[in-house]
Amino acid sequence: MTFTKSRQLQAKSHSLIPGGTHTYAKGDDQFPEEAPAFILQGKGCHVWDVDGNEFVEYGMGLRSVTLGHAFEPVIEAAQRQMLLGSNFTRPARIEVDYAEELLGVLKNADMVKFTKNGSDATTAAIKLARAYTRRDMVAYCADQPFFSMDDWFIGKSELNAGIPQTIRELTVTFNYNDLQSVKALFATFPHKIACLILEAETVEEPKDDFLNRLRGICDENGALLILDEMITGFRWHLNGAQAIYDVVPHLSTFGKGMGNGFAISALAGKREIMQLGGLDHASDRVFLLSTTHGAETHALAAARATLNFYKNTDVIGILHQQGERLQKGINQCSVRHNISGQFKMQGRTCNLTYITKDQKGEKSQAFRTLFLQEMIRHGFIAPSFVISYAHSNEDVDRTIEAVDLALAVYANALTDGVEKHLIGRAVKPVNRRYN
Ligand SMILES: Cc1ncc(COP(=O)(O)O)c(C=O)c1O
Repeated sequence: MTFTKSRQLQAKSHSLIPGGTHTYAKGDDQFPEEAPAFILQGKGCHVWDVDGNEFVEYGMGLRSVTLGHAFEPVIEAAQRQMLLGSNFTRPARIEVDYAEELLGVLKNADMVKFTKNGSDATTAAIKLARAYTRRDMVAYCADQPFFSMDDWFIGKSELNAGIPQTIRELTVTFNYNDLQSVKALFATFPHKIACLILEAETVEEPKDDFLNRLRGICDENGALLILDEMITGFRWHLNGAQAIYDVVPHLSTFGKGMGNGFAISALAGKREIMQLGGLDHASDRVFLLSTTHGAETHALAAARATLNFYKNTDVIGILHQQGERLQKGINQCSVRHNISGQFKMQGRTCNLTYITKDQKGEKSQAFRTLFLQEMIRHGFIAPSFVISYAHSNEDVDRTIEAVDLALAVYANALTDGVEKHLIGRAVKPVNRRYN
């Protein structure tokens, strides 16, 4: 396997595009040096890079491609719609059709607004909560990795250059499964916090009815509860994790998975709050998600076709079933190589990730890189083991065989040093202040 064309394009991309890509998680610093850098095409869960190498990939499109690349029913729906035009001077009919269909499945929402990126949706939820409560501060769950590329969230991260201190001071954090940390926030900032935003679940399950009790604390303190179902929607359940844990948020955000990779996301919620973005109320108007491309018709057609496919096929059941098969096989490999303390799978079976540790039991980017490198050598791009509907039994079985080979190298590296096996530098976390 060679990466000659990838290397040439990499040099060019960094001279043309800051970071060489449009999503940091896809960047060169996230992958080993011996890796495919650019993809030409995908089908199902298989992709082909610019050098003609074929791979099976996981976590496709940052978890947005749940049904598989170039999934025909979705592509055909988008193509048919494109031929009718993509953007008009007045709204397209499909905006109402899809809103009605989506609200037919979202149990806790009366109104919905579409947009392109998840960040637009979460930031709109924050703005709406601020307008509704007439408060400025917002609180997010510090144990969860990402909510938005916008200032209210990135301002609190290591990567906060360019974000004024005054904005950063308006955001505070609480911890998952820790009601005390939430109560402490409301005690320190009484009548100041507009909303709490969190994912209903990431790798840790909610304990002791955490989510419903959180809603209770929000109600007591006049704040809104926003559930970010960007990952969990269309993966845990069509309605997201809120359906599984039986919790009713004031607002929810959906995105990845809605349109099988097409640019579509949504803010959904209770009428009383959502209508502040509308034309028929007496309060201050909220500039809620009004963008040129927000309701591009072919993205909505793709989303309709995706929803329709989910309604007629147990996609979510299959994601869980295949994830379970994968999890079982990979866990057996780490036990066989006696490294289950160092290489650990985590998360729900439909959304598996892994942790890599060194000899001392410390989390290790070098060992992560080595594992990625060995998986790539065997034809797998696996920054996670987030499965799709397109991963067949054969794909899963081949993955387990590759993991077995990769973990054999991992086990050797634990004995004789990772640098002996790793080609080039280690990967780095996205969220860091300096290069
Ligand atoms: C939970 C969650 N919320 C929000 C976002 C932001 O979505 P986008 O990248 O589409 O702006 C992400 C993206 O990774 C996410 O995982």
